[in-house]
Amino acid sequence: MTARPEQETVAFDVADGIAWVRFNRPEKRNCMSPKLNRQMLRVLEALEFREDVKVLVLAGEGDAWTAGMDLQEYFRETEEQGLGAIRKSQRESYGWFERLRWYEKPTIAMIDGWCFGGGYGPLFGCDIAIASDDATFGLSEINWGILPGGGASKVAQELMPFRKAMYHAMMGENLSGKQAEAQGLVTEAVPSVQLKARVTEIAEALKKKDGAALRATKWAVRRMVDMTYDNALDYQIRAQEALHSFGGAAARKEATRQFLDEKSFKPGLETFDAGKLGER
Ligand code: ACO
Repeated sequence: MTARPEQETVAFDVADGIAWVRFNRPEKRNCMSPKLNRQMLRVLEALEFREDVKVLVLAGEGDAWTAGMDLQEYFRETEEQGLGAIRKSQRESYGWFERLRWYEKPTIAMIDGWCFGGGYGPLFGCDIAIASDDATFGLSEINWGILPGGGASKVAQELMPFRKAMYHAMMGENLSGKQAEAQGLVTEAVPSVQLKARVTEIAEALKKKDGAALRATKWAVRRMVDMTYDNALDYQIRAQEALHSFGGAAARKEATRQFLDEKSFKPGLETFDAGKLGER
C-alpha cells in the first residue's frame, strides 16, 4: 500500500461552530508520524482563529484515537538519520501538543478505541476528554523497553493519583475508558453509542458561553498548577483585567444586567444569553 500523503494524515470538517478534527491513518491505528505531526499543527493553526469555529473536537478515524508515536517513521527512520532528525521530529510533535494545551478555543478529546503512549500528549492538551467505556488507554512504552517520554509520564503524574500513575507507567497494563475515568485520566466515559452525542452536547454548551471568558478560564486552570496560592490569586486578577480588553467587560455587564435587572437567568443554573450582547 502506498503511503498516505502528508495532507491526508489529518481530516477535518466544520459544522455548526464545531471543528471535528480526526487523526486520519486508520490503517496504522492513527499512530503519529512526522507527517501527521506537521499536518496536525497546520490544521490546528488554520482553525484557531476562524470565526465559525467555537469548539474543537479531536477524534480518530477507524478503531483508534491514536496508537501513539509511529515506531517506524517517528522512531526508527528518524533515528537512522541522526540527532538532527530526532530533534526535528521531537519539535514537530511537542510543538502541536503545546499548541493544543494553549489553544484559543475550548477543546474536547473524543476517544473511541486505542490511546497509547505519545497519545497522552494531545489527550492532556485537550481541555475535556470524553471516552467510550471500552476505549483502551495504555503506557505501553515499558512493554518495548523505553520510558514513557514525550510528556506521557508527566501526563500520568499530573492527572492520576500517584499510586495509580506509578502502577500504570511501570506495568504496561491497559485501562478501559471506565477505568481511565475512575483514575482521572479522562473527564467522563460513556457507552460507545452515546459518545458523539455526549461530546456534541458538551460542545453545544460551551458554544453558548463567552469565548474570551472560556479562554481565560482554561488558561488559568492550566497556569495555576505550579503557582503558590498568592501567585495564583494575583494571576487571576491580572487575567480578569486582561479579559476586559477583549470584550469581557461588555459580556460581564450584560450578564449581570440579565441576572439583577431583567431577572431572565440565574448564573448558578445556566449561561447568560450572549445573543443579547449585540442588541445593546
Ligand atoms: N507505530 C507504527 N505502526 C503501528 C503502530 C505504531 N505505534 N500502531 C499500529 N501500527 C501499525 C501496525 O504495524 C500495522 O501495520 P501493517 O498493517 O503495515 O502491519 C497496522 O498499524 C495495524 O496494526 P495491528 O497491530 O495489525 O492492529 P491491531 O488492531 O491488531 O492492534 C494495537 C492494534 C494494539 C494498537 C497494535 O497495533 C499496537 O500494539 N500498536 C502499538 C501501540 C504502542 O505501543 N504505541 C507506542 C506507544 S509508546 C509511544 O508513543 C512513545
